[in-house]
Amino acid sequence: MDDSIEIPESPLFMDPETSRCPQATYGEMLARCPVSRMPITKGLIIAGYEDVMYCLRHPEIFSSEMSEQMALGTQRPMIPQQIDPPNQTRYRKILDPQFSRKKMALIEPAIRKSAIQMIEPLLDQGACDFNQDFAVPLPCESFLHLMGLPAGDLDLLIHLKDGIIRPQSRAQNAMDGEEINRIRKSAGDDIYLYFEDLIKEREAAPRDDLMGHLLRAEVDGERLSHNEILDIAFLFILAGLDTVTATLNCSVAYLASNPGQQEKLTQNPALIEKAIEEMMRWETPVTGVPRLVKQDVKISGHEIKAGEMVLLLLGSANVDPHEFDQPELVDFERARNRHIAFGSGPHRCLGSHLARMELKVALEEWHKRIPSYRLANDTPLIFSAGIRDVEALPLAWS
Ligand code: HEM
Repeated sequence: MDDSIEIPESPLFMDPETSRCPQATYGEMLARCPVSRMPITKGLIIAGYEDVMYCLRHPEIFSSEMSEQMALGTQRPMIPQQIDPPNQTRYRKILDPQFSRKKMALIEPAIRKSAIQMIEPLLDQGACDFNQDFAVPLPCESFLHLMGLPAGDLDLLIHLKDGIIRPQSRAQNAMDGEEINRIRKSAGDDIYLYFEDLIKEREAAPRDDLMGHLLRAEVDGERLSHNEILDIAFLFILAGLDTVTATLNCSVAYLASNPGQQEKLTQNPALIEKAIEEMMRWETPVTGVPRLVKQDVKISGHEIKAGEMVLLLLGSANVDPHEFDQPELVDFERARNRHIAFGSGPHRCLGSHLARMELKVALEEWHKRIPSYRLANDTPLIFSAGIRDVEALPLAWS
């Protein structure tokens, strides 16, 4: 007898209104439908902390190998995100030491200098667009530094990543799927060319930076091919820039809208590191990660068939009352915070130490110089879905 429970339609809409404040919808999903089906794409959404953790930790059932579905201007799967273990593990062995907390501490002074240079010219203005003036350029400058690329490439890098992530802004007709794909493909080709040039440069004149390391690194006694290095570098652009921008924007939008919390940080900067973790839990800028189901499986009593696409909803898992005491309370001193805003399992974020360092430096230097700020007007902020980010974050201070 089939004892599986029918899967209900999801109440989660990928629209700006829900994206501004998704936590209430997450709460409804956790209470009413921990497994649900999206009305248009028909993909499944898994909402509960324990279920999401199970899926993230079982890549043999929930696979990341789905490059056809996810071609973002790429010619091949991105490494290591679109590769399953055990192959993926081989790449992580090379990459993990390059992104360790210790390595990131070495570049922290340079990132701090960049942050200060971006904030100081804003001080007398009394207002800025936090997104354009700070949250976009800081992660890009950090990336240039990490890769040993010239600081003068900042605008080019922003242009390349936006071609992939925001092709609509360059299209004559933002609804024309073919035009959007063309723009993405052309931006993708430019990214490959950009890194091919860098590889040639480093081969001719070796240097001790991340690209230099990738060229020397060996997996099971073999060097990485040029294509493998390109597929890693491509992912860095997609995974390492807008995620930090979105997290900075979500955090500062939260603080600007909650003056009491802002004051806590200004009065006690030692709280910043824990506040970052708590805002990542509450805001969860990368709301979910996709997987392709490889074997029939039962989740929370629901039968899920091989071949289904699922979205593992990190945002809802992070407000699950089974894991978090009073999840709706944003508590910068929360004692136990095992949030999964960086994912979990074998694909857990490679750049989490880099991201945490950038966020800490950014919030420390910002609050030292601009201790009190507010949203510049009453117009509601517009948040994108998927990666929760704002196009503009107008702030003012006196
Ligand atoms: C606050 C900022 C960030 C957030 C919220 C974030 C979030 C995530 C999440 C949720 C995943 C898991 C994806 C999955 O399971 O499919 C991931 C993977 C990854 N992230 Fe991040 N990320 C951030 C910053 C960065 C940075 C700065 C880098 C630097 C290069 C980076 C590189 C990567 C890579 C390479 C992966 C794939 C790892 C693998 O598949 O083995 N991320 N990130």
